Amino acid sequence: MTTSDAAGEPWRALVRGDLATLPVYQAIQSPEVLAPELGLSPEAIIKLDGNENPYGCSPRVQAALATCPYLHIYPDPAQVALRRDLSAYTGVGPEYIVAGSGSDEIIDLLLRLVLEPGDSVINAVPTFGMYDFSTRVCGGRVIEVPRKRDFQLDVEGMLAAVDGRTKIIFVANPNNPTGTLTPVEALHPLLHAGPLLVVDEAYYEFSGQTVAARVPQHDKLVVLRTFSKWAGLAGLRVGYGLMPPGLAQHLLTIKPPYNVNMAAEVAVRESLADRDYLMGTVGAVVQERERLYSALERIPYLRPWPSQANFILCAVTRGDARSLHQALRRRGIFIRYFDTPRLRDTVRITVGRPEHTDAVVRALEEIEP
Ligand SMILES: Cc1ncc(COP(=O)(O)O)c(C=O)c1O
Repeated sequence: MTTSDAAGEPWRALVRGDLATLPVYQAIQSPEVLAPELGLSPEAIIKLDGNENPYGCSPRVQAALATCPYLHIYPDPAQVALRRDLSAYTGVGPEYIVAGSGSDEIIDLLLRLVLEPGDSVINAVPTFGMYDFSTRVCGGRVIEVPRKRDFQLDVEGMLAAVDGRTKIIFVANPNNPTGTLTPVEALHPLLHAGPLLVVDEAYYEFSGQTVAARVPQHDKLVVLRTFSKWAGLAGLRVGYGLMPPGLAQHLLTIKPPYNVNMAAEVAVRESLADRDYLMGTVGAVVQERERLYSALERIPYLRPWPSQANFILCAVTRGDARSLHQALRRRGIFIRYFDTPRLRDTVRITVGRPEHTDAVVRALEEIEP
């Protein structure tokens, strides 16, 4: 009998060795979980840790979901109407499009499709954690190529890191958590490096820069988008990828049949129909980002980085980021902090409504690190 048997966990011997020690993904918690811990109501929480839209979703989404007669019916596995709507929005034909349960799922599906044991991906760190996490879950190796001091890509370093086993190069643009926008020209060499180039434009609507229109011209370019950030649909989980039609067909073949739920499908349609309203909220966030940036510059122990997304990364130059995170948490304000080697003592603050800026800045002025 093994130790696991003795502990009553004989299933442990069946778990893939490389997954047994996989670190937990540091996901954010919901207000329903956080509020009781602090003795607050969920509405009292100021949530600036998830890069969500502080204005919520379109009122048209709320109304359509309240009366949707199809919630008991499975959604269309071929996503015909959804892909048609996304085609109208992106200007790229439906045959180039696959939708997923968040863009997280498209990342996972791409990796499942291309990675064989021992294959690798190139990750320009610091960046969004799911590229690393999903690669490991899919049995791949992650080759980290640090970004430069200003968080721009080290394109030469990335090209040099590509070898015969490299299947994907990931570039978040703008990057999370740094807010850095890589100019389109800097991406060109990566398009011809051999692996798929996945340009993750989760924050496109805030930056205004996209390479979506180039997808039909390149056979190795994939663009990822989401409704979680600009459209306020993070809770419904819907994202999509633009890619060569043959690749899209492969993803449609391997995806779980009903991966985008009916409520999400309805919400996408209504969001796109109410695009002007939603882009109004995006405009308000972009304006507020500049006000928040100026206010953070005036906090003596913070050094904010310019951002083209809906969040701002700050170096904490006195005290440490974790304590600052905790001090804000006690006041019901949630931000993200990092303590990885490259992001030692940094915090990321999502841009909220003006009253959220006022509250977080007041708290930051009061806290003595
Ligand atoms: C760069 C980037 N890509 C993808 C995602 C995931 O988005 P979704 O909610 O569509 O899975 C995020 C979320 O934080 C992100 O920052």
